[in-house]
Amino acid sequence: MSSIRAYRASDRDQVYDICIRTARAGDDATGVYSRDDLMPDLYAAPYCVLEPELAFVLDDGGTAVGYIIATADTRKFVERWRDEWLPAFAERHPLTSELTSAEKNHIRRGVHPEQMLIPEVDDYPAHLHIDLLPQARGRGHGRALLQTLRSALAASGVLGLHLSMDPANRSARAFYDRLGFHPLPSSRVDAPVLGIATSD
Ligand SMILES: CC(C)(COP(=O)(O)OP(=O)(O)OC[C@H]1O[C@@H](n2cnc3c(N)ncnc32)[C@H](O)[C@@H]1OP(=O)(O)O)[C@@H](O)C(=O)NCCC(=O)NCCS
Repeated sequence: MSSIRAYRASDRDQVYDICIRTARAGDDATGVYSRDDLMPDLYAAPYCVLEPELAFVLDDGGTAVGYIIATADTRKFVERWRDEWLPAFAERHPLTSELTSAEKNHIRRGVHPEQMLIPEVDDYPAHLHIDLLPQARGRGHGRALLQTLRSALAASGVLGLHLSMDPANRSARAFYDRLGFHPLPSSRVDAPVLGIATSD
């Protein structure tokens, strides 16, 4: 029996594992980059560390098998990323010449968090990441996690939520479309940016 609960520091390793195993357009990215912790260090851990009150996990028998993580205010998050996350990130992931160009681009995103500031950020200040392990998918948990996050954001007065995604992840795009996300004006076919209000 799975249930949604608040993230706890003891979920950290499982969150890293879920992130790696879903980081290749929804598929397993283990071994794709020279360090398996690159994707979680960019797309999972900073949210759990900087804004744990907006991190929720899907718990199956005491183990996290999925999560939704977010920031309520992308502008503030970028500042805190620079001050509190970037120093250790840059040390763990130096930009060295032998890295692939894809890997360098990911690391640059970590070093330049202002890349998160989409033109619509003031109307859609929150942004999210959601990932479930394969065995937890297709059973309504993604919808329930998203509703949990939207309610938490709405309760703190945040009106709009957005996400950026890999265009190759067609399955996730079908999920977001089904849940009512719409492309924002800055969205491009090769770099989709979707938005939704936090309450209906
Ligand atoms: C994308 C993801 C979060 C969706 O969560 P999920 O639990 O599988 O989705 P749900 O079962 O809650 O589906 C919710 C609705 O979306 C629809 N949906 C989900 N995936 C779909 C797909 N691939 N095609 C069409 N519809 C889909 C469902 O039919 C359902 O509709 P309904 O509630 O009206 O019946 C999950 O599959 C996942 O983690 N995938 C791998 C990681 C990933 O891609 N993360 C997103 C990165 S941008």
